[in-house]
Amino acid sequence: MDIIKGIYENIFSHKNTEIPFSDLDFALFKGHSGSGKSSIFDIMCWVLFGETARKKYKSILRDIPDKPKTGKGTVDVVMDDGKKYTVTRKVGRGKGLWIYEDGAEKPISFRTSTQTQQFIEKLLGMNFKTFLNIAYFSQGDVGKFLTSESSERIKVISDLLDFEQVDDMISKNKKDVENISNKIENFKGQLVVLRGKIDGIDVKRMQREKNMKIAASDKTVEDLVVVSQYLDGIKIKNEITDDIQNLKKSHNNQLTNAKHSLAQIKSTIDSLKNKKDMTPELKEKIKVCQEKLIGYDDVRKNLNKLRDEVSEGYGELAKHENKLETLKENKKTYEDILKMEGCECPTCRNIVTKKNLQHIKQKIDEISKQIDKAVIRYNEKNEQLKNKINAREIADKNMEALNRVKAYETDLKNKLKQEENRHERISESVIQYNQFKDSSKKQLDEIKKNIVRLNHDLSYYKDYKLTDLKEYQEKYNKLESLRISIEKDVALLKFQIQDYYDSVKRLKQVEDGMKVYEDEYKIIMYWKDALPKIKIEMIDSIIPFVESETNKYLSQILSGKMIKFMVDPDKATNKLDLFIYDYENGIERIFEGWSGGEKDKMTLSVYLALNKLASLRSGKRVNFLILDEKFSTLGDESKNIFDMLRNEYGDRKIWMISHVKEIDSEFKEIVNVKKINNISNVQISYN
Ligand SMILES: Nc1ncnc2c1ncn2[C@@H]1O[C@H](COP(=O)(O)OP(=O)(O)OP(=O)(O)O)[C@@H](O)[C@H]1O
Ligand SMILES: [Mg+2]
Repeated sequence: MDIIKGIYENIFSHKNTEIPFSDLDFALFKGHSGSGKSSIFDIMCWVLFGETARKKYKSILRDIPDKPKTGKGTVDVVMDDGKKYTVTRKVGRGKGLWIYEDGAEKPISFRTSTQTQQFIEKLLGMNFKTFLNIAYFSQGDVGKFLTSESSERIKVISDLLDFEQVDDMISKNKKDVENISNKIENFKGQLVVLRGKIDGIDVKRMQREKNMKIAASDKTVEDLVVVSQYLDGIKIKNEITDDIQNLKKSHNNQLTNAKHSLAQIKSTIDSLKNKKDMTPELKEKIKVCQEKLIGYDDVRKNLNKLRDEVSEGYGELAKHENKLETLKENKKTYEDILKMEGCECPTCRNIVTKKNLQHIKQKIDEISKQIDKAVIRYNEKNEQLKNKINAREIADKNMEALNRVKAYETDLKNKLKQEENRHERISESVIQYNQFKDSSKKQLDEIKKNIVRLNHDLSYYKDYKLTDLKEYQEKYNKLESLRISIEKDVALLKFQIQDYYDSVKRLKQVEDGMKVYEDEYKIIMYWKDALPKIKIEMIDSIIPFVESETNKYLSQILSGKMIKFMVDPDKATNKLDLFIYDYENGIERIFEGWSGGEKDKMTLSVYLALNKLASLRSGKRVNFLILDEKFSTLGDESKNIFDMLRNEYGDRKIWMISHVKEIDSEFKEIVNVKKINNISNVQISYN
C-alpha cells in the first residue's frame, strides 16, 4: 500500500489542505503545537478506516472559526496489485463513504457503508489496528509496549500474529467439547436404559412361550371348528322345526278360518229361513186392492173432463161479466151525455140539443134492457159453474181414495218382490253353502293330512338334542374367548420379542454412534490441550526474532544497551517480561530508570522490530512509516537514528512529526504546518 495524496476539507483544523504524499520520501512535519500536524495523519486514518488514533474528540467537522455543514476527506491510494483507488468520506450533511477506481466517475456500488468499508479493508489488506501497529506510530503511545503489563505485551504480539483465528479455534473447540460431551452423556444414558431393558429379558423363554401359545391357539381353532359344525347342525334343525311349527300353525289357522266361514254362511241361511213366508197374505191383499181399482181409469177420465168444463165455465162467466160491464159503461156514457146539453158530443162531434137527447134517452132504455138480459144470462152461467165445481170436488175425492189404494198396492207389490228375493237368496246361499262345504271338506282333509305329516316330522326332529344348543353355544363362546386371549398373548409376546431385537439393534447403533463421538472426543481433547500451546509456541518462537531485531536497531542508535525478552520457560503463563541491560557496565535497569532519549531509542527499536514482525506476518507491504513525536530529545546521536532509519527503511517513505530543532537538514522534505486564524496551512520546502 502506498498513499499518493490527501485532500482535506473542513476536517479538524484543516479547511482546505492538500498533501502530496507521493512527493514525500523522507519528510519532516514541523510546526507549533496545535498547528495541525497529527491531524494530517488522523484524517488519513479516518478516511481509510473511519477511526482516528486519538480515541476521543469533540467534533471531526471543523468547528472554528466558522461551522461548515459538510466535511470531506479524500485519499488516493495505490494497492499492492498496482491499482489506484480514491477513497472519499464525508461527515455532516450528505455523510457517507465511497471508493472510486482510478479515473472512474461513479463509485463502486455497495448497499451499505459497512460493505464499502469491508471492501476497502480487503483491498488494503488490513484493519485499523494492524495499520496502527505496522505503519502509524501515533503520538502519545511512547514506550507503551515497554511500560505495559507483561500480559499486555503478549496481547500486542498476539494481535500482530493474528491470534484471532487461534482464539476462534479455541472457542470453537470449547463448544465442540461441550457438544460432544453432552452427546456422549446422552448416548451413555441411552445405553443404560437399553442395557437395563435387554438384561431383564429372557428372549428364548419368550420365544418358547410364544410357540406354545401359537400351538394352543391352533388347537382352540380346531375345537372351535368341531363345535361350530355341531352348532350349525343344531341351528339348521332348529330352523326346520320352527318352519314345521309355523306350517302347522298356518294349517290350524286355515282349518279354523274354514270352519268359521261355514258357520257364518250357515247362520246367514238360518236367519233368512227363520222369517215367516208372507207371500200368500200379500197376494190376497193385492187382489183386494186390484178389485177396488176396477174403473180407476174411467174415474180419472171423468175427473179430467170435469176439470176442463170448470175452467171453460170460468171463461164463459168472465165473458158475460165483461159484456155486462161494457153495457154498463155504455149506459153511463149516454147518461153523461144527457148532462151535456149545448156541448159537443164526444162521439159524433155535433152540438147536443134537446132533440138529440131524446134519441139518447131511447138508447139508454135500450141498453138498460140489454143489461137486464145480460144479468140473467150471467146468473144462469154462474149457477151452472157452481154445479160443475161441486161435481168436480166429488170426483177429486174419489180419485184421491183410489190413488191411496193404488199406492198401497204398489207397496204390497214391493214387499212381495222382497219376499220373493229372500226366497231366491236362501236357495242361492244353500247352494253356495253346499259347494263351500264340499270344497272345504276336501281342503280340511288335506290340511289334516298335512298336520298329521308335520306332527310326524316334528317327532322325528325331537330325536335331535335341541337342548344342546345352549350348552354348545356356551362351549363355543368359551373357546372363542380363549382363542382371543391366546392371540392377544401371542401378539404381546411378538411385540416384546420384536422390541427386544429392536433394542439390541438400537444398542449396537448407539454403541457405534458413541464410538464415533468418543473418537472425535479424543481428537478435540487433543486440540483442547494443543491449541493454547500453539499460541505459546508461536510466541515462544517469535520472541527471539523480535528480540534480535530490536537489539539490531538498538545497537545502531544506543551502543552497549540490550533488551532481553523472557517468556515463561514452563509455558504455563502468558507472560512476556523485559529486562534492559547495560552490558558494558554490567547492570540491569527497569525501563523507567533510563533517560528520555534512551527511552525514545529503545521504543523506536521495539516499534521497528514489531513493524517488521507485522509486515512479515501479514505479508503486506506498507510503503511508509509514520512517526509522530517519537523523539522528545535528540542529541548528538540523532545522526545515528536517521542513518539507521535510512538503512533499515531506505526503500520506504518516512514521515516524521517532530518538535526537535536543528534536524531539518536530515530530511529531504520539510512540511511546515502553520495555524492562521484557527485554520491549518501547509507549505512544503525541499532540501
Ligand atoms: N473540530 C475541530 N475544528 C477545528 N479545530 C479543531 C477541531 N478539533 C481539534 N481542533 C484543533 O486542531 C488543532 C490541531 O491539533 P493537532 O493534534 O493536529 O496539533 P499538532 O500540530 O499535532 O500539535 P502538537 O504538536 O501539540 O501535537 C488543535 O489546536 C485542536 O484544538
Ligand atoms: Mg500532534
